Amino acid sequence: MAQRVRKAVLPVAGLGTRFLPATKAMAKEMLTVVDRPLIQYAVEECLAAGIEEFVFVTGRNKGAIEDHFDHAYELEATLAQRGNKQAELKQAEQATIKPGNAIFTRQQKPLGLGHAVWCAKPWIGREPFAVLLPDELMVGTPTCTAQLVAASETTGGSVVAVVEVPREQTKSYGIAAIKGEKNGLAEITGLVEKPRPEEAPSNWALIGRYVLEPEVFDHLDRHETGAGGEIQLTDALAKMIGGKPFHAMRYSGGRYDCGNRLGFLEANVAVALGRADTAGETRALLERLLKG
Ligand code: UTP
Repeated sequence: MAQRVRKAVLPVAGLGTRFLPATKAMAKEMLTVVDRPLIQYAVEECLAAGIEEFVFVTGRNKGAIEDHFDHAYELEATLAQRGNKQAELKQAEQATIKPGNAIFTRQQKPLGLGHAVWCAKPWIGREPFAVLLPDELMVGTPTCTAQLVAASETTGGSVVAVVEVPREQTKSYGIAAIKGEKNGLAEITGLVEKPRPEEAPSNWALIGRYVLEPEVFDHLDRHETGAGGEIQLTDALAKMIGGKPFHAMRYSGGRYDCGNRLGFLEANVAVALGRADTAGETRALLERLLKG
Protein backbone atom coordinates (compact mmCIF):
# COMPACT_ATOMS: atom_id res chain seq x y z
CA MET A 1 0.00 0.00 0.00
CA ALA A 2 1.22 3.52 -0.80
CA GLN A 3 2.66 5.44 2.16
CA ARG A 4 0.40 8.26 3.37
CA VAL A 5 1.40 11.81 2.38
CA ARG A 6 1.95 13.59 5.71
CA LYS A 7 4.35 16.40 4.87
CA ALA A 8 4.43 19.38 2.54
CA VAL A 9 7.30 21.55 1.33
CA LEU A 10 6.46 25.20 0.71
CA PRO A 11 9.32 26.88 -1.19
CA VAL A 12 9.07 30.60 -0.48
CA ALA A 13 12.62 31.80 -0.98
CA GLY A 14 12.17 33.32 -4.46
CA LEU A 15 12.91 36.99 -5.06
CA GLY A 16 9.53 37.80 -6.61
CA THR A 17 11.05 40.07 -9.25
CA ARG A 18 7.85 40.12 -11.32
CA PHE A 19 6.10 41.86 -8.46
CA LEU A 20 8.54 44.65 -7.63
CA PRO A 21 8.40 47.04 -5.87
CA ALA A 22 5.82 45.23 -3.66
CA THR A 23 8.33 42.44 -2.98
CA LYS A 24 11.30 44.69 -2.20
CA ALA A 25 10.98 44.29 1.57
CA MET A 26 7.99 41.94 1.77
CA ALA A 27 7.55 38.29 0.88
CA LYS A 28 5.49 37.68 -2.27
CA GLU A 29 3.71 34.92 -0.38
CA MET A 30 2.37 37.49 2.12
CA LEU A 31 0.45 39.30 -0.62
CA THR A 32 -3.18 39.24 0.39
CA VAL A 33 -6.10 37.85 -1.59
CA VAL A 34 -9.22 39.42 -0.03
CA ASP A 35 -8.29 38.94 3.63
CA ARG A 36 -5.58 36.30 3.93
CA PRO A 37 -2.06 35.97 2.57
CA LEU A 38 -1.26 33.52 -0.22
CA ILE A 39 0.76 31.36 2.14
CA GLN A 40 -2.30 30.77 4.33
CA TYR A 41 -4.31 29.50 1.36
CA ALA A 42 -1.51 27.01 0.64
CA VAL A 43 -1.45 25.78 4.24
CA GLU A 44 -5.25 25.45 4.29
CA GLU A 45 -5.09 23.52 0.99
CA CYS A 46 -2.69 21.05 2.66
CA LEU A 47 -4.79 20.69 5.81
CA ALA A 48 -7.81 19.89 3.62
CA ALA A 49 -5.71 17.10 2.08
CA GLY A 50 -4.85 15.61 5.48
CA ILE A 51 -1.30 17.04 5.49
CA GLU A 52 -0.30 18.50 8.85
CA GLU A 53 3.49 18.88 8.77
CA PHE A 54 5.11 21.76 6.92
CA VAL A 55 8.61 22.61 5.80
CA PHE A 56 8.85 26.25 4.75
CA VAL A 57 11.97 26.96 2.70
CA THR A 58 12.44 30.66 3.29
CA GLY A 59 15.04 33.33 2.63
CA ARG A 60 15.93 36.86 3.66
CA ASN A 61 12.97 39.24 4.18
CA LYS A 62 10.58 36.32 4.78
CA GLY A 63 10.30 36.54 8.57
CA ALA A 64 6.67 37.65 8.38
CA ILE A 65 5.72 34.18 7.13
CA GLU A 66 6.99 32.57 10.32
CA ASP A 67 5.24 35.21 12.45
CA HIS A 68 1.99 34.73 10.56
CA PHE A 69 1.61 31.14 11.74
CA ASP A 70 2.58 31.91 15.34
CA HIS A 71 0.33 33.25 18.06
CA ALA A 72 0.13 37.06 17.97
CA TYR A 73 -0.03 37.41 21.72
CA GLU A 74 -0.66 41.15 22.09
CA LEU A 75 -3.25 41.15 19.32
CA GLU A 76 -5.09 38.12 20.66
CA ALA A 77 -5.05 39.40 24.25
CA THR A 78 -6.42 42.78 23.13
CA LEU A 79 -9.16 41.18 21.03
CA ALA A 80 -10.10 38.83 23.89
CA GLN A 81 -10.48 41.82 26.25
CA ARG A 82 -12.87 43.54 23.85
CA GLY A 83 -16.17 41.76 24.21
CA ASN A 84 -17.28 42.45 20.60
CA LYS A 85 -14.20 41.10 18.79
CA GLN A 86 -14.72 37.33 19.12
CA ALA A 87 -15.02 36.72 15.36
CA GLU A 88 -11.78 38.64 14.73
CA LEU A 89 -10.05 36.69 17.52
CA LYS A 90 -11.08 33.44 15.85
CA GLN A 91 -9.69 34.64 12.50
CA ALA A 92 -6.34 35.47 14.11
CA GLU A 93 -6.18 32.16 15.97
CA GLN A 94 -7.09 30.14 12.88
CA ALA A 95 -3.87 31.21 11.17
CA THR A 96 -1.67 29.04 13.37
CA ILE A 97 -0.09 25.63 12.82
CA LYS A 98 -0.04 22.98 15.55
CA PRO A 99 3.02 23.26 17.83
CA GLY A 100 5.93 21.29 16.44
CA ASN A 101 4.36 20.84 13.00
CA ALA A 102 6.22 23.59 11.11
CA ILE A 103 9.89 23.89 10.27
CA PHE A 104 11.44 26.99 8.75
CA THR A 105 14.71 26.46 6.96
CA ARG A 106 16.63 28.96 4.86
CA GLN A 107 17.71 28.47 1.28
CA GLN A 108 20.27 31.27 1.77
CA LYS A 109 20.78 31.79 -1.99
CA PRO A 110 17.89 31.55 -4.49
CA LEU A 111 19.59 28.96 -6.68
CA GLY A 112 16.34 27.67 -8.12
CA LEU A 113 13.20 25.75 -7.18
CA GLY A 114 15.00 22.38 -7.29
CA HIS A 115 17.57 23.66 -4.80
CA ALA A 116 14.80 25.05 -2.56
CA VAL A 117 13.08 21.64 -2.46
CA TRP A 118 16.44 19.93 -1.80
CA CYS A 119 16.90 22.16 1.27
CA ALA A 120 13.89 20.35 2.80
CA LYS A 121 15.51 16.91 2.40
CA PRO A 122 16.58 16.38 6.06
CA TRP A 123 13.04 17.13 7.26
CA ILE A 124 11.23 14.92 4.77
CA GLY A 125 13.29 11.72 5.00
CA ARG A 126 12.27 8.78 2.82
CA GLU A 127 8.54 9.27 2.41
CA PRO A 128 6.28 10.77 -0.27
CA PHE A 129 5.59 14.48 0.19
CA ALA A 130 3.69 17.35 -1.39
CA VAL A 131 5.22 20.50 -2.86
CA LEU A 132 3.10 23.63 -3.27
CA LEU A 133 4.22 26.89 -4.84
CA PRO A 134 2.10 29.35 -2.86
CA ASP A 135 2.11 32.08 -5.52
CA GLU A 136 -0.14 29.78 -7.56
CA LEU A 137 -3.53 30.05 -5.86
CA MET A 138 -5.83 27.07 -6.40
CA VAL A 139 -9.52 27.37 -5.61
CA GLY A 140 -12.04 24.54 -5.46
CA THR A 141 -13.13 21.46 -3.57
CA PRO A 142 -11.64 18.92 -3.31
CA THR A 143 -8.46 20.98 -3.32
CA CYS A 144 -5.79 20.42 -5.95
CA THR A 145 -3.46 18.88 -3.34
CA ALA A 146 -6.24 16.59 -2.06
CA GLN A 147 -6.80 15.41 -5.65
CA LEU A 148 -3.06 14.76 -6.07
CA VAL A 149 -2.85 12.83 -2.81
CA ALA A 150 -5.82 10.67 -3.84
CA ALA A 151 -4.25 10.10 -7.28
CA SER A 152 -0.90 9.12 -5.75
CA GLU A 153 -2.66 6.58 -3.54
CA THR A 154 -4.20 5.06 -6.68
CA THR A 155 -1.03 5.04 -8.80
CA GLY A 156 1.47 4.34 -5.99
CA GLY A 157 3.93 6.95 -7.26
CA SER A 158 4.55 10.63 -8.02
CA VAL A 159 1.78 12.80 -9.48
CA VAL A 160 2.01 16.40 -10.70
CA ALA A 161 -0.87 18.73 -11.55
CA VAL A 162 -1.00 20.02 -15.13
CA VAL A 163 -3.19 22.29 -17.25
CA GLU A 164 -3.17 23.00 -20.96
CA VAL A 165 -1.65 26.39 -21.78
CA PRO A 166 -1.54 28.28 -25.10
CA ARG A 167 1.53 27.07 -27.01
CA GLU A 168 3.20 30.49 -26.99
CA GLN A 169 3.33 30.27 -23.16
CA THR A 170 5.34 27.03 -22.87
CA LYS A 171 8.53 29.00 -22.16
CA SER A 172 7.09 30.04 -18.80
CA TYR A 173 6.49 26.50 -17.51
CA GLY A 174 7.78 23.00 -17.03
CA ILE A 175 6.11 21.03 -19.84
CA ALA A 176 5.18 17.33 -19.74
CA ALA A 177 5.01 14.80 -22.57
CA ILE A 178 2.27 12.34 -21.68
CA LYS A 179 0.64 9.17 -22.95
CA GLY A 180 -2.50 7.14 -22.33
CA GLU A 181 -4.73 9.64 -20.51
CA LYS A 182 -7.50 7.93 -18.54
CA ASN A 183 -9.82 9.58 -15.99
CA GLY A 184 -7.66 12.72 -15.98
CA LEU A 185 -4.43 10.81 -15.27
CA ALA A 186 -1.70 10.22 -17.86
CA GLU A 187 1.71 8.60 -17.71
CA ILE A 188 4.60 11.07 -18.01
CA THR A 189 7.08 10.19 -20.73
CA GLY A 190 9.11 13.40 -20.83
CA LEU A 191 9.60 16.66 -18.95
CA VAL A 192 11.34 19.83 -20.02
CA GLU A 193 11.68 23.18 -18.25
CA LYS A 194 10.66 26.34 -20.12
CA PRO A 195 10.90 25.01 -23.70
CA ARG A 196 10.39 27.37 -26.65
CA PRO A 197 6.96 26.75 -28.26
CA GLU A 198 8.53 25.07 -31.32
CA GLU A 199 10.49 22.67 -29.09
CA ALA A 200 7.80 21.92 -26.49
CA PRO A 201 6.71 18.26 -26.47
CA SER A 202 3.11 19.35 -25.67
CA ASN A 203 1.24 22.23 -24.09
CA TRP A 204 0.67 20.41 -20.76
CA ALA A 205 2.16 22.74 -18.14
CA LEU A 206 3.14 21.99 -14.53
CA ILE A 207 1.34 24.45 -12.26
CA GLY A 208 3.13 24.26 -8.94
CA ARG A 209 1.43 21.32 -7.22
CA TYR A 210 3.27 18.04 -6.80
CA VAL A 211 3.17 14.81 -4.79
CA LEU A 212 6.66 13.34 -5.07
CA GLU A 213 8.46 10.17 -4.13
CA PRO A 214 11.63 10.78 -2.06
CA GLU A 215 13.81 9.49 -4.93
CA VAL A 216 13.67 13.04 -6.29
CA PHE A 217 16.26 13.99 -3.64
CA ASP A 218 18.73 11.48 -5.11
CA HIS A 219 18.67 13.50 -8.34
CA LEU A 220 18.59 16.93 -6.64
CA ASP A 221 21.68 15.87 -4.65
CA ARG A 222 23.72 16.42 -7.81
CA HIS A 223 22.86 20.15 -7.92
CA GLU A 224 22.86 20.22 -11.72
CA THR A 225 21.82 23.54 -13.22
CA GLY A 226 19.40 23.85 -16.10
CA ALA A 227 17.25 26.56 -17.72
CA GLY A 228 18.24 30.05 -16.60
CA GLY A 229 21.31 28.67 -14.79
CA GLU A 230 19.05 27.52 -11.92
CA ILE A 231 18.77 24.12 -10.25
CA GLN A 232 15.43 23.11 -11.70
CA LEU A 233 12.93 20.78 -10.01
CA THR A 234 11.64 19.76 -13.46
CA ASP A 235 15.08 18.43 -14.45
CA ALA A 236 15.22 16.19 -11.36
CA LEU A 237 11.67 15.02 -12.07
CA ALA A 238 12.64 14.15 -15.64
CA LYS A 239 15.22 11.74 -14.22
CA MET A 240 12.48 9.91 -12.29
CA ILE A 241 10.79 8.78 -15.51
CA GLY A 242 11.17 5.03 -15.89
CA GLY A 243 11.39 4.46 -12.13
CA LYS A 244 8.32 4.33 -9.87
CA PRO A 245 4.93 5.25 -11.45
CA PHE A 246 4.89 8.92 -12.48
CA HIS A 247 1.72 10.62 -13.66
CA ALA A 248 0.31 13.98 -14.68
CA MET A 249 -3.12 14.86 -13.28
CA ARG A 250 -5.26 17.18 -15.36
CA TYR A 251 -6.43 19.91 -12.96
CA SER A 252 -9.71 21.62 -13.75
CA GLY A 253 -10.40 23.81 -10.70
CA GLY A 254 -9.76 27.54 -10.32
CA ARG A 255 -6.14 28.62 -10.70
CA TYR A 256 -4.61 32.07 -10.43
CA ASP A 257 -0.94 32.90 -10.99
CA CYS A 258 -0.47 35.47 -8.25
CA GLY A 259 3.22 35.87 -9.12
CA ASN A 260 2.21 38.48 -11.69
CA ARG A 261 0.10 41.60 -11.27
CA LEU A 262 -2.85 40.70 -13.45
CA GLY A 263 -3.19 37.16 -12.11
CA PHE A 264 -3.13 38.57 -8.59
CA LEU A 265 -5.84 41.13 -9.42
CA GLU A 266 -7.95 38.42 -11.03
CA ALA A 267 -7.54 36.22 -7.93
CA ASN A 268 -8.78 38.99 -5.66
CA VAL A 269 -11.86 39.64 -7.79
CA ALA A 270 -12.62 35.95 -8.35
CA VAL A 271 -12.23 34.95 -4.69
CA ALA A 272 -14.31 37.95 -3.53
CA LEU A 273 -17.05 37.05 -6.04
CA GLY A 274 -16.94 33.42 -4.91
CA ARG A 275 -17.39 34.11 -1.20
CA ALA A 276 -20.88 34.52 0.27
CA ASP A 277 -19.73 37.28 2.63
CA THR A 278 -18.16 39.44 -0.10
CA ALA A 279 -19.90 38.48 -3.39
CA GLY A 280 -22.77 41.00 -3.36
CA GLU A 281 -20.72 44.05 -2.41
CA THR A 282 -17.94 43.12 -4.85
CA ARG A 283 -20.37 42.75 -7.73
CA ALA A 284 -21.91 46.15 -6.94
CA LEU A 285 -18.45 47.70 -6.66
CA LEU A 286 -17.35 46.30 -10.03
CA GLU A 287 -20.53 47.51 -11.73
CA ARG A 288 -20.00 50.97 -10.28
CA LEU A 289 -16.36 51.10 -11.41
CA LEU A 290 -17.15 49.81 -14.90
CA LYS A 291 -19.85 52.46 -15.37
CA GLY A 292 -17.06 54.98 -14.80
P1 UTP B 1 9.21 31.81 -9.34
O1 UTP B 1 9.63 31.19 -10.61
O2 UTP B 1 7.87 32.44 -9.29
O3 UTP B 1 10.34 32.82 -8.90
O4 UTP B 1 9.35 30.70 -8.22
P2 UTP B 1 10.26 34.01 -7.86
O5 UTP B 1 11.64 34.41 -7.55
O6 UTP B 1 9.41 33.66 -6.68
O7 UTP B 1 9.48 35.16 -8.65
P3 UTP B 1 9.92 35.99 -9.96
O8 UTP B 1 9.81 35.04 -11.12
O9 UTP B 1 11.30 36.52 -9.73
O10 UTP B 1 8.91 37.09 -10.00
C1 UTP B 1 8.37 29.70 -8.03
C2 UTP B 1 8.38 29.28 -6.58
O11 UTP B 1 9.65 28.76 -6.22
C3 UTP B 1 10.18 29.46 -5.12
C4 UTP B 1 9.47 30.80 -5.11
O12 UTP B 1 9.45 31.35 -3.80
C5 UTP B 1 8.10 30.42 -5.61
O13 UTP B 1 7.28 29.88 -4.58
N1 UTP B 1 11.64 29.58 -5.31
C6 UTP B 1 12.16 29.88 -6.52
C7 UTP B 1 12.48 29.35 -4.23
O14 UTP B 1 12.02 29.07 -3.10
N2 UTP B 1 13.81 29.43 -4.43
C8 UTP B 1 14.36 29.74 -5.64
O15 UTP B 1 15.60 29.80 -5.73
C9 UTP B 1 13.51 29.97 -6.70
